[in-house]
Amino acid sequence: MARITAGVGSSHVPLLGVAVDQGKTGDDYFGPIFKGYEWTKAWEKAEKPDVVILVYNDHASAFDMKIVPTFAIGCGERYKPADEGWGPRPVPDVEGHPDLAWHIAQSLILDEFDMTIINEMDVDHGLTVPLSMMFGQPEKWPVKVVPLAVNVVTYPVPSGNRCWALGEAIRRAVESFPEDLNVQIWGTGGMSHQLQGPRAGLLNREWDNRFMDQLVGNTDAARWIPHIEYLRETGSEGIEMVMWLIMRGALGKETRCLHRHYHIPCSNTAIGHLVLEPVEPEAA
Ligand code: DHB
Ligand code: FE
Repeated sequence: MARITAGVGSSHVPLLGVAVDQGKTGDDYFGPIFKGYEWTKAWEKAEKPDVVILVYNDHASAFDMKIVPTFAIGCGERYKPADEGWGPRPVPDVEGHPDLAWHIAQSLILDEFDMTIINEMDVDHGLTVPLSMMFGQPEKWPVKVVPLAVNVVTYPVPSGNRCWALGEAIRRAVESFPEDLNVQIWGTGGMSHQLQGPRAGLLNREWDNRFMDQLVGNTDAARWIPHIEYLRETGSEGIEMVMWLIMRGALGKETRCLHRHYHIPCSNTAIGHLVLEPVEPEAA
C-alpha cells in the first residue's frame, strides 16, 4: 500500500530559484534563508520518498485567464520548467507518476472532487523552487512528482475548508493505491506577502507563526480561516497559504513537527517552512 509519510509546507519565492541557479545561496542575504533548509535537505536524503504530491499554484505560466482550473492534477509522464520571462530555469525536467496520478484522479473524482486532468504543461517557480530548496542541484530530481495545481490567483479561490477536505480525500486515494510507495505531500506558497498596490511589501510575522502553530497537533482551526482574514492580515498573495491546508488535511487528525523555520524578508515576502509527520491514532 502507498502511504503518506510526511508533509512539508514551504514558501516558493522565485528569487530563491535565482539564488540557487546563480550560486548565491551562501551570501549575506540568502545565507540565513538557505541555512533554514539544511535540516530538511538532510532529512529528505535519509527519507528517500518515492513520490511527492506537490501542491502549488501556477502563476500565469501554464494557465491564464483563458482557463482557470480550481484544482488540477498532473497525470503526465514529465513536465518542463516554464519560461517565466528570463528563459526556463536550468533545472531537470520533472518526472511524473502517471499510474499514481490517474489513480488519485479517479479516487478524488469518485469522492466528489471534480479535478481537472492535465497531461501536458510546463511547471513554474511554484513547483520548481521547492524542489530546489529540498534537493539542491541534482542532475535528475530524486523523486517523481504528482503536480497538484490550485487556483489562488483569480477569485473565487477555494475555501480553506475545501482545501483541507481535498487533503483528506488525497490521503484516502493514496492509501488505496496497491503499490508500496513512500509518498510525501508538500503544500507551497505564502507566507504573508503582497506584490502590488498601496500595501505592497506587507509582512505579518505574528500571523504567519500562528498559522504554522495551528498546523501542528490535533487542532483543525486553520481550516476555518476565511479568505478575508488572509487578505487583511497577510496581503493579497497570502491566500497562497490555503495550499498548506491541503497538505495538512492529508496528514490526518494529528501531526508532529519535525522542523520549522521562518525568516523575514525574502524578496517581498516572509519565508517559512514546516516539516510535519502524521501521528497515527494507535501511537497518539
Ligand atoms: C514572489 C512571487 C510568488 O509567487 C511568491 O509566492 C512569493 C514571492 C515574488 O515575486 O517575490
Ligand atoms: Fe506564489
